[in-house]
Amino acid sequence: MPPASKPPTAASLSLFQLLDPAVLADPYPLYQRLREQDPVHWDPYLHSWVVTSYPEVVAVLTKYSADRTPTPEQLAALGLTEMKPFAEMMVRQMLFADAPAHTRLRTLCSVAFTPRRVEGLRAEIQAIADSLVDDVIASGRMEVLGDFAEAFPAIVTARLLGVPTKDHQQLKRWSADFAELLGNFQHNPDRVASVLRSLEELRDYLADKMREQGAAPDKQAGLIGSLMAAEVDGGKLTDEEVIASTIVTMVGGQETTTNLIGNGLYTLLRQPVRLAQLRDDPSIIAPAVEELLRYESPSQHTARVAKDDVVLGGKTIKKGAAVMAVMAAANRDPSRFPEPDRLDLTRADNRHVAFGWAAHYCFGAPLARMEGAIAFTTLLRRLPGLALAEEKPAWRGNTGLRGLTALHVTFARAAAETMARHL
Ligand code: HEM
Repeated sequence: MPPASKPPTAASLSLFQLLDPAVLADPYPLYQRLREQDPVHWDPYLHSWVVTSYPEVVAVLTKYSADRTPTPEQLAALGLTEMKPFAEMMVRQMLFADAPAHTRLRTLCSVAFTPRRVEGLRAEIQAIADSLVDDVIASGRMEVLGDFAEAFPAIVTARLLGVPTKDHQQLKRWSADFAELLGNFQHNPDRVASVLRSLEELRDYLADKMREQGAAPDKQAGLIGSLMAAEVDGGKLTDEEVIASTIVTMVGGQETTTNLIGNGLYTLLRQPVRLAQLRDDPSIIAPAVEELLRYESPSQHTARVAKDDVVLGGKTIKKGAAVMAVMAAANRDPSRFPEPDRLDLTRADNRHVAFGWAAHYCFGAPLARMEGAIAFTTLLRRLPGLALAEEKPAWRGNTGLRGLTALHVTFARAAAETMARHL
């Protein structure tokens, strides 16, 4: 008789295991165990419900409260009073608000961040991608994160905000600092001082840019100036809200897009048949980007709070309880996606939750999709013979914002140079 399988323990199902680099390198077996054995799971280590099945993740994102940032009083009770300036900025962001405050902020920001503004950046985004590729062609090798995937969205963000392109490295540093705090569920006291310093620097920087863009309203305004000018029913954003909305756009748009490019390219490089399929038929780029988002979601989980006592997946969740919606696990739920562990670049009916769901659905999704499409098609078209230079690149320690520390690749230099001459 085969040995009886061991019953799951709280430790064997805890998301805390993501702190182990081996689990973080491939979290999907852990997500699968959770989904199969306890899809709405009380995690005593995280002191939170952890939800991993697709219908329940959608329910959490649709109905639960996003108002989850600690108040200054709660911070004081946790002995984290020094985090107050950060918390004050966070509560002004749409990401952490419920209706009607969320509706007001998102509507005003939508007046500034229009589809037309995104479409207007297309040619420039293509030029940014091409110029980053030009810089590496002669070497025949590339570190995808450092040479491309980090700078690309940072330069796009600078253009979007209407600030000098040369500031992109600084924007990247600030955003990386905040992302460490936002994407992780473990509190790292060593980072607090540097994050607070970054927040102060960034606020000064943005206040300066607000003076510039506010003083020249007729010029082709950057997003900062447009946020200042946005008006709905006579209502406008306050200066502090302009700063908070710029920060959420800046942070939301950089780390995630970097990781879409890094994770997506790594996925393709490990499956050369799929890489060749996309290189040979770039017309499938739109569904391919969706599939890469589903398969290796840059934003793995997000947090909510139960508004009332509710029953979810047969479990009673008490009002005020913390709930983690693990989008990356829902995106591999076989009840929603046939053969979820197979990369299918033309997958039909691919309504993944990598951009979230419902009211907080990613505000920058059209820009992210455009950046992803341009990045993948440009890299595959201009770098023939693209191949991994190392078998197992390391994953960053961030449990929520999934991404690689580095991705070394090689390509056929002579062929790439010849192609570059004919562009
Ligand atoms: C591949 C790239 C991206 C991914 C995977 C991504 C993912 C997400 C997810 C999962 C959410 C919902 C979070 C939640 O419900 O708690 C979200 C919201 C948001 N994203 Fe993105 N994002 C990406 C790119 C961008 C870009 C380029 C921008 C802006 C330029 C952006 C700005 C935002 C904002 C402002 C929100 C808050 C929306 C709200 O609360 O109503 N994101 N994003």
